[in-house]
Amino acid sequence: MYRTHTCGELRKSDINSKVILAGWVQKVRNKGFMVWVDLRDRYGITQLIFDEERTAKDILDRAQNLGREFVIQIDGTVIERASKNPNIPTGDIEILVDKLTVLNESLLPPFTIEDETDGGDELRMKYRYLDIRRTPVRDSLIFRHKVAQEVRNYLSGQGFIEVETPYLIKSTPEGARDFIVPSRMNEGQFYALPQSPQTFKQLLMVAGMDKYFQIVKCFRDEDLRADRQPEFTQIDCEMAFVEQDDILNAFEGLTRHLLKTINGVDVGEFPRMTFDEAMERYGNDKPDIRFGMEFGNLNQVSQHKDFNVFNSAELVVGISVPGGNSFTRKQIDNLTNWVKRPQIGAKGLIYCRCNDDGTFKSSVDKFFDQADLKLWAEKTGAKPGDLIFVLSGSTEDVRSQMSALRMEIGERLELRNPDEFAPLWITDFPLLEWDEDAQSYHAMHHPFTSPQADQIELLNSDPGVVKANAYDLVLNGNEIGGGSIRIHDKETQALMFDRLGFSEAEAKAQFGFLMNAFEYGAPPHGGIAFGLDRLVAILGGQETIRDFIAFPKNNSGRDVMIDAPAPIDTKQLEELKLKLDL
Ligand code: AMO
Repeated sequence: MYRTHTCGELRKSDINSKVILAGWVQKVRNKGFMVWVDLRDRYGITQLIFDEERTAKDILDRAQNLGREFVIQIDGTVIERASKNPNIPTGDIEILVDKLTVLNESLLPPFTIEDETDGGDELRMKYRYLDIRRTPVRDSLIFRHKVAQEVRNYLSGQGFIEVETPYLIKSTPEGARDFIVPSRMNEGQFYALPQSPQTFKQLLMVAGMDKYFQIVKCFRDEDLRADRQPEFTQIDCEMAFVEQDDILNAFEGLTRHLLKTINGVDVGEFPRMTFDEAMERYGNDKPDIRFGMEFGNLNQVSQHKDFNVFNSAELVVGISVPGGNSFTRKQIDNLTNWVKRPQIGAKGLIYCRCNDDGTFKSSVDKFFDQADLKLWAEKTGAKPGDLIFVLSGSTEDVRSQMSALRMEIGERLELRNPDEFAPLWITDFPLLEWDEDAQSYHAMHHPFTSPQADQIELLNSDPGVVKANAYDLVLNGNEIGGGSIRIHDKETQALMFDRLGFSEAEAKAQFGFLMNAFEYGAPPHGGIAFGLDRLVAILGGQETIRDFIAFPKNNSGRDVMIDAPAPIDTKQLEELKLKLDL
């Protein structure tokens, strides 16, 4: 028997018990006549004690020579600690050791395996198996397990069935590039890894499976960010005989259940906002509504003077920073430089101080008088003591720049309360997006998304204005899920492919299987997919998903631990009949 107890288990009530423990040596404190060892396993840390008076000399000697991360097993007696440690659950006791076995030695780890480590990101990724021994990383993985478990419990309880769909498939059009797998048995042909199980879940609806879900890996070859990985996990769901409200209600239920069971938070009914409204009020389709600073459109109150910067702009937008009049000139300059960085791309930042006495002082006083500035304050909701920031330019640029500034100020002023959860449904997304480079439309969500029923005609006359039956779930400013009601008839699907610039032959070659299935009684259906990694990170109070993935890729899409991707040998290439021309 390797152990009678784990390292997180023993308490005062176990005093005098004989126990066997096994684990890793976290720390050795050697006073010569006395040695303490922190023994760690998944469950916690238990202190071991060896001393001259009570421990056999050879055992004390060997304890003095234990190295960090050695794997050991000990027999001993639980005793009360002389100096207790209130910070750990086992802090009242220690084990007086009378037998010590080294099960395995360890090289000196390249970074300290404690809550606070000295290891940089790349080093920790290279030795991820050591990093996972650290409590915060291990806890994040256990947290992820709990969320996944709750998802399964809840959805199963609601009658959803988990069905696995294949990974070796044909390209799915979710907007990113595919990862490609060559087929040995079919020379010159390739599988694609799924960007999502989208087409399969729709086929399951045609197959009559109704409420489907799957916790499933998806693969997308796209540029990486803090909230993106090339392989990530979705909670993928689909239902038959549903309208948009049915889906929103069902998955609001799931999200509410998770917030309750995981975070102990009760949230009321989720607010809903259309895409257009979100863009006008926050310049963004995933607004963080935990704080205000909503956009005030200043076009009407800023384009009547001799200030050409505003007069030539498509959009002039202001936001009011609560209490911002206390910002120093230096702080304002700092934010001005922040928005002028190439990543944000603003040309400049105009400000207006709202003084306590009701007067205003702006950086454009030459052009605007107190009456003008008062209107700016009204439009942005600014009160005495606040500070108004104004940006102008093309609608698209100004919205994205101001939205970034709003988030940055929200972050700096700590308005994004980590204990608060603010979910929000965004609905009525545009169906199509115009792609300047390709000079064609592409689907904003994906080509199976249904246009709103009363707008199908517009697909012929004015496709750009058509709204989709599509929705996203936003949590604290992050898109955690998205879905839509699908097209379920062959004619509309054919029209949609046509609008997207597919010829009939191309559509047939790529999606013939789906179009055929639609000939055999496809029910009305719709669904949603949550990004599990993002959801877990946000419920865990963070925005970087890497910390919640056991073996993540770095920013260049590499696994630095196993060193992938890597070349393959000539024999493999020959078998696959692939020639590299590098
Ligand atoms: P969508 O493309 O919106 O929809 O993806 C659903 C959710 O998956 C998460 N996500 C990602 N998470 C981590 N890394 C990535 N690279 C990544 N890409 C997406 C996001 C996103 O909201 N088939 C449709 C769903 C449907 O229509 O039912 C789909 O995949 O949280």
